Formats: sequence, C-alpha cells, structure tokens
Amino acid sequence: MTQIILKTIKELNEWRLSNQKSISFVPTMGNLHLGHKELIREAKKLRENLVLLSIFINPLQFNDKEDLRNYPRTINKDIDLAFAAGADAIFIPSMDEIFPKNKKKINYLKASEDLSKTLCGISRKGHFDGVCTVVNRLIDIVQPEVIFLGEKDWQQLLIIKEMVANNNIKVAIKSIDTQRDIDGIPYSSRNNLLLKNDREKLKLFSAELFRTKQIFNQTKTLGLNKIIKRLEDKDIKVEYLEHVNAFNLKRSTSEINITMLAGAIICGSTRLIDHVFLMKRDPIIAIDGPAGSGKSTVTKLIAKKLKFIFLDTGAMYRALSWYLIKQKINYENNKELNSFLNNISITFKSVAGSKQNVIINNHDVTEKIRTQEISTIVSSIASIKAVREFLVSEQRKIGETGGIVAEGRDIGSKVFPNAELKIFLTASIDERARRRKNELEAMGQGTIDFEKLKNEIEQRDSDDSNRKISPLVKAKDAIEIISDGYTINQVAEKILEIYLETIPKELHL
Ligand code: CDP
Repeated sequence: MTQIILKTIKELNEWRLSNQKSISFVPTMGNLHLGHKELIREAKKLRENLVLLSIFINPLQFNDKEDLRNYPRTINKDIDLAFAAGADAIFIPSMDEIFPKNKKKINYLKASEDLSKTLCGISRKGHFDGVCTVVNRLIDIVQPEVIFLGEKDWQQLLIIKEMVANNNIKVAIKSIDTQRDIDGIPYSSRNNLLLKNDREKLKLFSAELFRTKQIFNQTKTLGLNKIIKRLEDKDIKVEYLEHVNAFNLKRSTSEINITMLAGAIICGSTRLIDHVFLMKRDPIIAIDGPAGSGKSTVTKLIAKKLKFIFLDTGAMYRALSWYLIKQKINYENNKELNSFLNNISITFKSVAGSKQNVIINNHDVTEKIRTQEISTIVSSIASIKAVREFLVSEQRKIGETGGIVAEGRDIGSKVFPNAELKIFLTASIDERARRRKNELEAMGQGTIDFEKLKNEIEQRDSDDSNRKISPLVKAKDAIEIISDGYTINQVAEKILEIYLETIPKELHL
C-alpha cells in the first residue's frame, strides 16, 4: 500500500476530498512511542473513518528556545511507526503552513484561565495558550470528526475540552489512559533525553505515586508533604506535587470524590510529569427531568451496561403515596405522618429482564404504583418536607458506596450534589405524553385519553417545578439532553459516551 504523506494544506484537502470519509485525527509533536501507537489503535476502532496523524512541533508550546532545539526529532522512525500502527495518512506541515505570513488566518486563543493557572501552567507561562492556538488551527485545517488525545497530559486534555466547548468547535474528543513502560514510567517523547540515572528517578517518582494510590484506596487520605519529603530524600527534584479535584484542578477538599495527585520533577535539564487518579467511592450518575422524558428506561440501560445499581426515586415517592392512601394516614398531621415514616421500609428486588420490583413493608407494589390515581396524588405528597427528608436520606444510604445511576427530580441538585455526571433529560410535552400513553397502554391500562394525560403531566411538571423544597430544576453543572427525535437507545448511548469520556480511564480499569 502506498504510504500517504501530506505536507501542505492543499495536499491534505485533495486527499480528504478524494476519500469523502470522516477523519479520526491524532495530533502529535513526533518522536512517536507506544503511547502514540495506542492512540492510533484507538482511532482505528471507528472503522468507517480514516486515521490521520499529524506531526508538528509547536513552537508556541516551548518557553525555552533550548528545549525547543533539543526536542527529539525522529521523522523516519515516526513514519514507520504510524503506518505500522494503522494510520491511513500522515500530515507533516511546515511552519509556514501552520503559521502563514497572512496572520489573519491564525486565531491566537487563550486557554481557560482557571485550568491553566495551576500545576504545569505555573512554570510554563503561555504554554497552554500555545497548545490551544495550534490545536484549534489543526482542527480548522483537518476538519476531523474526532480527535484522540492521551490522558497522560490530563491538564492539557481538560483545557482542550474547554476550548472546544467554549468556541463551539464541532469535534468530538476521545482520550486514552496513560500508557506506561514495563518499569511503570509513562511513555513520553522527552524520555529519550534521559540519562540512565534520571530514568531511575522518574521510575521512583511514578512508583511513589502508585504506592500512594494503594494506601489511599485503603485509608482515603494522603499526606502531601510526607510524599514530597520522601521524594526529596531520594534526591528527586520536585517542581510541584499537588492533590487536586480531577475536573477543575482546584485544590482537593474532603467532599471531592475523584481527585488527582499530580507532579512534575526535574531530571537534569528535562522536566517530566506524572499523576495518578484517586477515588473515594465509585462514581454516581444523576439523571433528572420531567415526567415521561425517558429517564427510567435510559437509567436502566446505563446501569446494566456499567453494572451499576439502578435507583428509581420516583418509584419510592409513588410507593409511599400508595401506602399512605392504603393505610388511610392523615399525612397533613405531622405526628401521624412521622410515626408512619418511622416504620417504613422500601426495597427494590431485581427480577428477570433487568426489571426491579418495588416493595414497601412486604407489599409488592410494582404495578399498583403506576396508576393514574397515584400519578395524580404523588406530586403533592412529594412536596411534604418530612416525606422528602425521609426519602432523600434513604436514597443517600443506597448510594453511599457509589456505583449507582439514580433518576428523579432532585438527584443532581439535592440527593447527590457531588455526582460525577449530571444529566437533565427532557423532551417536548407532546413527545412525553405520547411515550407515556404507549407505556400505559402496553401495561394493559386500556385506551388512554391523550389530552387528559397531557394535562395531567403538565400539571405534575408545574407542581414539581414550583414546590418550595427541592423543586425540579436543572442543576447548574448538569448537561441538558432534549430527547425528541431520538430513540431511548440512542439517548442511553450518548449519556454512556459522555460518562466514559468524563471519568479518567485509569479509574475504569
Ligand atoms: O415516571 P414519571 O416521570 O411519571 O415520574 P416518577 O419518576 O415516577 O415520579 C413520580 C413523582 O414523584 C414526580 O412527579 C415527583 O412529584 C416525585 N418525585 C420527586 O419529587 N423527586 C424525585 N427525586 C422523584 C420523584
């Protein structure tokens, strides 16, 4: 097969037009290693796409001319590795192609201030602005469908994600876990510059991070200063070592679940980085939204895929409503309600076909709670303070160790405000009423009057959104998905994709 090497934007455009396929893009600075090989392999998984790898040493990323001059250049070896790993073409533009004399073509971008002012950004002023400018320029030239980046440069990855989101750039980002050599050190182009003794130091540094992770998994704590001291005792020059929130890179606090212990060390004249991710409990996915938006089905599908617990909090409010009515409790009387709540136990029992039965004090109410009678009363019962306090506390107990997908109205805003992923799932009222009508009729509830059902749902949406305690709101950090025109499977796949690209791959293993 001919090896396609493109050196100009013109050649690239001709290649793209002659193929008419979407592009999976792997941008690199060359000196390829097994980490890049893995990126190409990952990119190859999107079978309909062509894989394009670029090699361009971005001068804007270097603060130091010497570092730029010394940066390893191994172009022939790179070409062999990229094609052997399955790249369909390699783009090796000259400086003039990326930075043409006509400066108007270049959009000099600023990296997110919050994400770039910490960790590597402290000593590498302007570095991330340079990364954003060139990655944006390459995306503009290549027009890829997806770009593939390594999580070894996690701070860079977060910054590029933010740049893409803030500038409405139409490209998906996929990342792979840090690839490591057999001695545990992360592959990096700069490793070639290391003397044997320096490599030994990097190995000790990575080993120390992993040892800390092991201890953290048991104790859930870490002593940053002690680690720094231990590294210094091994004659390792630490530029920084920080324990930060893995998503906003702010210093970690006790309520943060997924954190990163990240550091940079100086070996001779080379600066090297490494990190580990730490997690106190398994992740939580919160799915909120109005009635009939497809939450239950989507939540079940996602829980099954991830082998997580599935929690339908609406079923708890419904079960409680059913039992209050059955027992003829006067729930407006606080004393009567509280003594009732003190003796309530709601459990879920998994049955065949990834279904769950709902049991309240030994009554299996799975079917009984889906009637119009319950749908009409549940919102007003769900607005009672004591009811909410009781159920929220039960829900938190179920989610204590994480590994849960919970759906409801206040999951992201109240029950699990620290959920790793928050989705606000909605759809137009007509679409939701249509879905609910089909659902109820499939359950054998006879022919349902569409307009009546639509009014009931609208009323419930309004009650849920306007109540004083824990109303239905989109949490400020929730991602809104409007599901009109998509199948439930497509929505579940989309959420799963977002989840898998949010949680560091190191924690999926
Ligand atoms: O399935 P559907 O969308 O009809 O509703 P559900 O999830 O079964 O919830 C029934 C009702 O319980 C909602 O209309 C809310 O009034 C209440 N609910 C709540 O207040 N908070 C939650 N986390 C879940 C449900």
